[in-house]
Amino acid sequence: MLKNTPYEKEIVTIIFYTSGFFIVMAIVLVLFFYFSRKKITQKEIEKKDLEIQYQKELLSAVIITQEEERKRIAQDLHDDISSKLNIVALNSHLLTRPNLTDSEVLEITRNIIDLTSKALDNARKIAHGLLPPVLDKFGLHAGLQELCLEFSSLKDVEVHYNCNSNFSLLDNDRHLHVFRILQELMNNSVRHGKATTISILFEDINGFTNCTYTDNGVGFEIESSESKKGLGLKNIESRITFLKGTMVIQSAVNKGISVVFNF
Ligand SMILES: Nc1ncnc2c1ncn2[C@@H]1O[C@H](COP(=O)(O)OP(=O)(O)O)[C@@H](O)[C@H]1O
Ligand SMILES: [Mg+2]
Repeated sequence: MLKNTPYEKEIVTIIFYTSGFFIVMAIVLVLFFYFSRKKITQKEIEKKDLEIQYQKELLSAVIITQEEERKRIAQDLHDDISSKLNIVALNSHLLTRPNLTDSEVLEITRNIIDLTSKALDNARKIAHGLLPPVLDKFGLHAGLQELCLEFSSLKDVEVHYNCNSNFSLLDNDRHLHVFRILQELMNNSVRHGKATTISILFEDINGFTNCTYTDNGVGFEIESSESKKGLGLKNIESRITFLKGTMVIQSAVNKGISVVFNF
């Protein structure tokens, strides 16, 4: 029978405690990694959920805007065209009545000509509002020049437009989004900002086209209005996402607004 010396006993005890220590450490480490991993995954899921929620909001903004636009077009068609064509139809029926005097025929014909030309004018205006023909035929640069001219002639605002980029007509489908973004920004500057000066600059930076938009209006607190972004700003964001670009909006009360985006 072998008997352990006190020295050997001591070594066994040390080995026992050291292994125990390492086993406990290993368990603690495993538990620590398990729980922190779980926390990280949970955070990631929450972030993804927020992103999905935001995408949903953007999508619903697009749908609501589309419906509003349809409503507006339907109203325009009804008020400005259908009603006039109705009277034209009535007048045409009158013309078929027997025993009309020459002056009556003349008056009815004048009415018909007058109403038809008004309906034509309105149809042109509605079509122009939906898609400016200049933009379609001559591209973004010409479209924006016309838009700026319209704004500075109709509203009390000075528009400085500078373009150091070449817009290819081949990209017209994408450029329509840029046009709509600037249209909304300009409308906001006039409507909310009461701006008197707007400037728009296009330049090519690192293979991207960069647009810098500024106004000198009353501005607004971005932070506080972040949650109540209107349909206009949400639409701009979804157009930027569509263009695979980025955008930074800066504004403060009495500091105007500055929007920089690329595409
Ligand atoms: N250029 C601007 N100057 C001042 N305030 C602005 C400007 N652009 C946007 N805002 C503010 O941001 C809000 C959201 O704008 P927007 O999304 O276009 O919605 P809407 O124009 O339908 O109100 C506006 O109601 C306004 O308070
Ligand atoms: Mg708006």
